[in-house]
Amino acid sequence: MHPTSQILLPLDTDTADKALALASQLQGEVAGFKVGLELINAAGFGLLHQLQVVAGPDVKIFYDCKFHDIPNTVAGAARAAARRGVWMFNVHASGGGAMMRAAVEAAAEGARSGGLARPLVIAVTVLTSIDAATLGGELGVSESVTDHVIRLARLAQDSGCDGVVASPHEIAALRAACGPDFTLVIPGVRPAGADPGDQRRVMTPGEAVRAGADYLVVGRPITAAPDPVAAARRVNAEADAARNNG
Ligand code: C5P
Repeated sequence: MHPTSQILLPLDTDTADKALALASQLQGEVAGFKVGLELINAAGFGLLHQLQVVAGPDVKIFYDCKFHDIPNTVAGAARAAARRGVWMFNVHASGGGAMMRAAVEAAAEGARSGGLARPLVIAVTVLTSIDAATLGGELGVSESVTDHVIRLARLAQDSGCDGVVASPHEIAALRAACGPDFTLVIPGVRPAGADPGDQRRVMTPGEAVRAGADYLVVGRPITAAPDPVAAARRVNAEADAARNNG
């Protein structure tokens, strides 16, 4: 793993073979890998172990599972995920404070029982696919999207979560609301000139780091590049420069 990289590379593929090929190609350049619902449902949980073989036992795996259920069920899932040695996983903040506290406590128990470090527990506030019309109209939430994001982030922090996944344009408000130690994991990052694809509100890696991002989830600009290793190095160089020069 690259020592200063802030990149969490999403392994957005539908087979274990493709995911492992990406991981072995890029493991020296990134901070870690994101394993989401498509891949885990297609490849099975053995993939997590295979990743630890391919990229080393200390590989940082962000399991993007977005747990959302009653506290007892989420606790059981969190305990099991922690025993698998994931470094980070997430829950929906809209599951409420009791659910998030149960996830954090069970993650600690699961990790302890396996002699492992507790995974970081990160909350999803408002999905970026939910706009003001959906939040207010379909879901009946009367406050603005930003106010609801901040409300759920504060609840996540008060419930013991380590941070949130957030859009780049929410970084400044979240830093102000939740302070410097709250981990901000930021997708929607695009190097200058890169195809935004289906991402609507993007920032460059430098902008996101200057705004206060801890981790950058950058996928297709790296994985679809002609030379993925060179593309990852460019993102790292831009992030390093932003960190070092403010
Ligand atoms: O390829 P790209 O850089 O767009 O990949 C971004 C990754 O981050 C995908 O795995 C996507 O599901 C995830 N993500 C996102 N926007 C969010 C939350 C997660 O793009 N708001």
